[in-house]
Amino acid sequence: MSSLPVILDTRPMTLPRLLDKREAGEPIVMVTAYDFPSALTAERAGVDVVLVGDSAANTVLGYDSTVPISVDELLMLAAAVRRGLRTPLLVGDLPFGSYEISDAQAIATAQRFVKEAGCDAIKLEGGGVNAERARAIVRAGIPVMGHVGLTPQTATALGGWRAQGRTADRALELAKDALDLQEAGCFSVVFEAIPSEVAAVISAKMHVPVIGIGAGPAVDGQVLVFHDLLGIYSGHAARFVKRYASVRDEMIKGVSAFADEVRARRYPEEEHGYTMAPDEVARLAELVREQTGEPFTGGLSL
Ligand code: KIV
Repeated sequence: MSSLPVILDTRPMTLPRLLDKREAGEPIVMVTAYDFPSALTAERAGVDVVLVGDSAANTVLGYDSTVPISVDELLMLAAAVRRGLRTPLLVGDLPFGSYEISDAQAIATAQRFVKEAGCDAIKLEGGGVNAERARAIVRAGIPVMGHVGLTPQTATALGGWRAQGRTADRALELAKDALDLQEAGCFSVVFEAIPSEVAAVISAKMHVPVIGIGAGPAVDGQVLVFHDLLGIYSGHAARFVKRYASVRDEMIKGVSAFADEVRARRYPEEEHGYTMAPDEVARLAELVREQTGEPFTGGLSL
């Protein structure tokens, strides 16, 4: 008998249902996904929201930061996620440089995520002028999720990969960014790496769902990166990462066992091969003899 959880509610997630969850005090669960199998996993685990994050730059494309990933790269991943997803709300992350220049650029990029990859909504980072980009995209009919605090696309300008809003002044700036995004029409805002007290205070002023990542418990939901929570890669992880599995170790064990068996000629066994009827083998031997004058050895040289 499978020990996998039973999913009772398979209605597709909608923006009003996300808001209902916030109002009912039901925590919202969001994870990232980057391909068909991770989407199927998120679907089967019954999460509420799936983000095709630009963290794909690090987790699946091997870049040093999220800055280099292109729209086309992320669109290909988002389209694969769409094919594996039915129930959760699908949010596509707009890559660095694909929305900041003008409202027209922001709308055009957001439309590609909806038209070409089938995303339900998009996410963009930062307040200030980017809240205006969010407003333009919302006006164009595409739901937008905001993202404040540690915004990886502009981490260098923020002083590196560090928690944000740790002074009273910076906390107020953060609050302004979050409220501006809400006022611009965002249906939800991600708070990343900010002190729990600050997140709690700002969250209480919001009326749209706040999804935290390193923002403490007093928010409406939590998001983690798929590869972080499953332990798909090793190395430094942020303080907020909790590992719920060690998939990397399992993958290495599996591939090493395959390598050992190939080297020891224990794989493949008879059950892994295909057979030919004995009369066809005899006919083949005859044809080989006729055509080459050589005996059929049954080896791989054919
Ligand atoms: O790209 C990403 O994975 C994100 C989440 C951390 C929210 O933006």
